[in-house]
Amino acid sequence: MSDKNDQQRKPFIGFALDRETLETIVHAVKGLGWGPQNVLYGDVDLAVTNLKDVPTPQRVLVDLSTSEDPLADLEQLANVCDPGTQVTALGTHNDLNLYHRIKDLGVHEYLLKPVAPELLAATLNPQEKPGAVGESDWGSRIVAVVGAAGGAGTTTVATSIAWMLAHHEGRKTALLALDPWFGTAAFNLNLEAGTAMVEALQDPTRIDSLFIERAMAAESDSLFVLGSEPDLRQAAAIRPDGAAVLIQRLAPEFDRLVLDLPRCNAGLLQGGLGQASRVLIVSDLSMTGVRDTVRLAELAEAVSPNLELGVVLNRVGERGRDQITEKQFRRTVDRPILAVLPEDPKTMAGALSAGVAVPAHAPNCAMVKTLKKQWTQLTGSEARNRSPFWQRLRRSA
Ligand SMILES: Nc1ncnc2c1ncn2[C@@H]1O[C@H](COP(=O)(O)OP(=O)(O)O)[C@@H](O)[C@H]1O
Ligand SMILES: [Mg+2]
Repeated sequence: MSDKNDQQRKPFIGFALDRETLETIVHAVKGLGWGPQNVLYGDVDLAVTNLKDVPTPQRVLVDLSTSEDPLADLEQLANVCDPGTQVTALGTHNDLNLYHRIKDLGVHEYLLKPVAPELLAATLNPQEKPGAVGESDWGSRIVAVVGAAGGAGTTTVATSIAWMLAHHEGRKTALLALDPWFGTAAFNLNLEAGTAMVEALQDPTRIDSLFIERAMAAESDSLFVLGSEPDLRQAAAIRPDGAAVLIQRLAPEFDRLVLDLPRCNAGLLQGGLGQASRVLIVSDLSMTGVRDTVRLAELAEAVSPNLELGVVLNRVGERGRDQITEKQFRRTVDRPILAVLPEDPKTMAGALSAGVAVPAHAPNCAMVKTLKKQWTQLTGSEARNRSPFWQRLRRSA
């Protein structure tokens, strides 16, 4: 295979096993400026036969939906691909374990069918991948905040951080309430939530700049919130892969994205984590909090091994929630605890009734002071020269 010449490599070849997928691929590759003639009907066997004796195109897409042993098939494919080939796989198995094993083989991405053309285009287009764009800057651009226990303060922390990014750092920031049904970020800030998030996740193909412009509610000229408060009687199915499309579409328009990630849907959770550059798990000192902090950390590390991960302990001192000590929590969780925030119902209720973010309402409260003190660790705002402190906090591999 060493005689295969890089110069002769085509940009793309794709194989699909049904008409809808084929059309989706054609649509996506046309949008990327590549010829539709390189999209064929066929399984991995056909891909192997096709690629055996020619220079491998730079990107190869295969459809694993009829494959009895996807891993073996992908290995077979790997044997005929030149080094550096970017392989994307489509499949119907929504199985995290399989996903990891496929990624471990070096596959660029595994996407569930039916796949949205926008997501496919974003996946195939190297320019849209966070990792490909100016590494150092992307290092801190997308912060995902996820809660390990209901009411632990995920939305409060996400909103506070987004507000501080916008108002203290002057960054154009988007706060995405990714729970399409019960997201509260917009509501808490007294903003019109509309139905944008649920629409985006029901049909990711409609996410374009016009949609974004109409859908985002402006808290100020630097903080924009995307939420939704749909009629619950219109419960059309959402597509969790829409989260990735949405994030990739929004990322170029903003300096920072803060994701308020729900636990209501594992697909959304994984989609959001997969796009994030850092994740903050918000927990209280409850038994379920400690359990789910560990589970969420394991998920985040599996979905995206390079992301920076830390824990925010919140509502410490609330008697109903304090079931274990901070020391026990730290020992069990074994991940960096970046901030410990006290229970402070008066301040929280004040901010909620004023319809503003906590740091706007009470800039000197304990929560805001701690967030400020731990700012770099929490947000990576100085990620360009990450301090040794942060490195030390990371789990030893
Ligand atoms: N440190 C805190 N002290 C007291 N109440 C808090 C604190 N953090 C959050 N809350 C309150 O707890 C409730 C749930 O918070 P929220 O941020 O919506 O949690 P989640 O998004 O995890 O469900 C809200 O009423 C919020 O004001
Ligand atoms: Mg919430």
